[in-house]
Amino acid sequence: MLGAPGVGKGTQAALLSNHLHACHLSTGDVFRAAKSADQCHLSPAMAQALIAMRRGELVADATVLQIVKERTACLSCRGGFILDGFPRTLEQARALQDILQEQHVKLDATLDYEMPLAEVVSRLSGRRTCGTCKAVYHVQTHPPKVRDICDLCGNALIQREDDKPQAVAVRMETYQRSTAPLIDFYAKLGLLVQIKATGSPEEIMQRSMTQLESR
Ligand code: AP5
Repeated sequence: MLGAPGVGKGTQAALLSNHLHACHLSTGDVFRAAKSADQCHLSPAMAQALIAMRRGELVADATVLQIVKERTACLSCRGGFILDGFPRTLEQARALQDILQEQHVKLDATLDYEMPLAEVVSRLSGRRTCGTCKAVYHVQTHPPKVRDICDLCGNALIQREDDKPQAVAVRMETYQRSTAPLIDFYAKLGLLVQIKATGSPEEIMQRSMTQLESR
């Protein structure tokens, strides 16, 4: 999956993986899980990764590739796999080609979710995440039943550190510079599928499924 920060990749990945019984690998989720783990056991590379993430910068390619390689079992999932937030640089995209070849699997499509920037920023600034079960809400479009409390597990909702305005600006700029070039990369491979990311999550999922089925 490609698309600017906050465009709704995680929301779509959850819906699609449920629908297709596919494995969902989100590199952002892996880093956030490391953040809540025991800080004494973080490797120096992971500690650096968390600093970069907090600022809205990309984690070093070598660190990202290491965590993806540790999870290649995901690529053999019987329902297929969805890569969310990876690759994000040309170097990662080229390394992914090698990993896929080694694992004897291939990509069916690269879904590129598109939406006007102002709407993306509003999705990011209104996002709230459960600190415990990681469910995702939005203060306007998908509020919890009780303010700041997770419907699913009853624990507190938090705003991600990288959803604060300064980090959002860095993330958007980084996306344009490092990740947007992947649109061309996948178009040249004949894998690019562009999807309008406006409308309800279910409408967008339906749009994605229609595109996938037509391939
Ligand atoms: P990551 O977690 O991948 O963040 P991101 O790409 O910035 O994407 P987000 O999770 O912010 O947004 P999303 O598109 O998933 O939107 P969501 O569905 O939540 O990465 C975080 C950081 O980790 C990076 O900045 C980097 O530091 C590091 N990192 C990760 N992978 C890396 C890599 N490969 N290389 C280097 N560094 C890496 O939706 C957003 C909000 O909108 C929610 O509130 C949701 O409820 C709402 N919403 C969603 N869909 C709709 C809809 N249709 N209508 C209305 N509201 C909606």
